[in-house]
Amino acid sequence: MGFYSQIILPRLLDWSLSNSTLAKYRQELLADVKGEVLEIGFGTGLNLAYYPAHIHKITTIDTNPGMNAFAKKRISDSNIIVQQLTLSSENLPMSNDTFDSVVSTLTLCSIANIEQALKEINRVLKPGSRFFFLEHGLSNKPNVQVWQNRLTPIQKVIGDGCHLNRNIQELVERHFDKVESRQFTPENMPDLTAHLYRGVATK
Ligand SMILES: C[S@@+](CC[C@H](N)C(=O)[O-])C[C@H]1O[C@@H](n2cnc3c(N)ncnc32)[C@H](O)[C@@H]1O
Repeated sequence: MGFYSQIILPRLLDWSLSNSTLAKYRQELLADVKGEVLEIGFGTGLNLAYYPAHIHKITTIDTNPGMNAFAKKRISDSNIIVQQLTLSSENLPMSNDTFDSVVSTLTLCSIANIEQALKEINRVLKPGSRFFFLEHGLSNKPNVQVWQNRLTPIQKVIGDGCHLNRNIQELVERHFDKVESRQFTPENMPDLTAHLYRGVATK
């Protein structure tokens, strides 16, 4: 992993993903998180401020050591104890049925083997517990989809593996029987990069 991924990208993503619109959706998503929590693709720790007050400890994973280093300041400023691990969601070391909540925000777009990662997320959740996601992905407008498909190869380079054209709803539904989600594009954001999927999947 090179200079761009470890040094530039954390700063770029921290700046671009810390706007007030996303902050509101992060807070709404995390309001119902409970128990033992795993956050995948922790990035620069932008969700940390929005966990409910009863959450005292979380486990986080991210493949990029540069992201994990950048997140340290947020972790030290937070009351939440963070067990921060550098590893991939495609191959989790945790036992089956470990967590009450798994959280992913703006991360399913970037995971190389997304099917394997969703399988792992399902595996480490306790029966009846929940996967909370806020993701960007494939628009429901065919003319936007055309550009999302065309630009994904470029976006994968700029965004360290980020796909613009994943149908998050379909992907999550392939691994969970019960999925409640909605798709929308915030008014001040473009369909191309900010067609959002927000939902909860129950194991
Ligand atoms: C666009 S950032 C989002 C960061 C954060 N979740 C947020 O909402 O601000 C995507 C993150 O997923 C991480 N990532 C990519 N592939 C991963 C994988 N296979 N397992 C865990 N994290 C991964 C990246 O390193 C990056 O930090």
